[in-house]
Amino acid sequence: MKLDELDITNYRNITSAHFVPSPDLTVICGNNGQGKTNLLESVWLLTGGKSFRGSKDAELIKENEDYSVVEGVVSSADEISDIRIFIGGEASEKKGRSAKVNGVDYGRATSVAGKFTSVVFAPNHLSLVKGSPDGRRRFIDAALCQLYPSYITLYRRYMRQVAQKNALLKNLYKTPNALQLLDVYDDFLVEYGTQLCERRQTYLSSITPDIIKNYDDISSGSEQLSIEYVKSFDGDMQAALEATRKKDVYAGFCTVGPHRDDFEITINGKSAKSYASQGQQRSAVLSLKLAEAAGIQAVTGDHPVMLLDDVLSELDDARQEYLLTRMKNKQSIVTACDAGLFDKTDGKIYLMENGMLKIFN
Ligand SMILES: Nc1ncnc2c1ncn2[C@@H]1O[C@H](COP(=O)(O)OP(=O)(O)O)[C@@H](O)[C@H]1O
Ligand SMILES: [Mg+2]
Repeated sequence: MKLDELDITNYRNITSAHFVPSPDLTVICGNNGQGKTNLLESVWLLTGGKSFRGSKDAELIKENEDYSVVEGVVSSADEISDIRIFIGGEASEKKGRSAKVNGVDYGRATSVAGKFTSVVFAPNHLSLVKGSPDGRRRFIDAALCQLYPSYITLYRRYMRQVAQKNALLKNLYKTPNALQLLDVYDDFLVEYGTQLCERRQTYLSSITPDIIKNYDDISSGSEQLSIEYVKSFDGDMQAALEATRKKDVYAGFCTVGPHRDDFEITINGKSAKSYASQGQQRSAVLSLKLAEAAGIQAVTGDHPVMLLDDVLSELDDARQEYLLTRMKNKQSIVTACDAGLFDKTDGKIYLMENGMLKIFN
């Protein structure tokens, strides 16, 4: 998958920009607050997804303007498409986010999903290592949802069942036949939960060799990463639910099951969450993101475009060099504040200054 060119109108602080990234590596340099992340975010819009900063439509439109347009020409292994995303503000005739592909109306922007695939690394993704288990579960669930629509159905069924059981646990003494009802809910939880666990574990094992290899490359073989899915219970789920029944009743919620699972990342045998430096954590997240992208390629046949926002800070020279010279065969767009990087990269360089994009080399 490649982004061949991009035209931006009235997007955040960018009034107008024409961007032609290299098929390999492009570096966008500029000081803080100039519009580098805004540019990456506009590329991401072509996936049909929400802004990766979780912003509302109105925030994406340049101040004092009525609408914003992001139009990109993207090519996959078998087609070239022109994706045009229009964002209409309150005063606009057409409100909200809509899309056209090759001039044909596609309705809501989300309907272009799949035409352009991309994986983002944003600084807040460091929470994948540092943060709570729900961010890590989301990483696996989001990837599986993107890859397999059947996973979304399974995931929703399971989560609905958890919500139902939690509601019952909170009103246990007011509900007639509560214990029989709990048995019925548990049967469904076991049916869906066991499948969910298996699919997550299968996915994680399938990308684990790649994650380990990426980390080995980024750290020039000096450190070893390992990763392991950690279930919230031992053995079989039915037995686990029976064993924790009293605890669940006391807690008022369902304390075991895939909704409480996690995965643990270790670097040289030590927990990355507690021991790793910022640079090591960044490298670990990057290894996960690159593996996620390779996983998408394995299923769709196309490697997604990598959008790496502020990934270089806190990485040592060797790690920066890896990112700036060795990520061939996959299109990557990287932002950085450090102008000293110019000498280190063989990529195409753009400068972003106050919303103006200029080519440097
Ligand atoms: N809707 C908007 N209209 C105008 N400017 C905006 C809008 N949204 C954000 N900005 C401006 O964009 C700038 C931040 O851009 P950003 O891409 O995050 O910077 P950086 O280069 O550090 O990544 C800020 O100055 C902010 O005020
Ligand atoms: Mg930024």
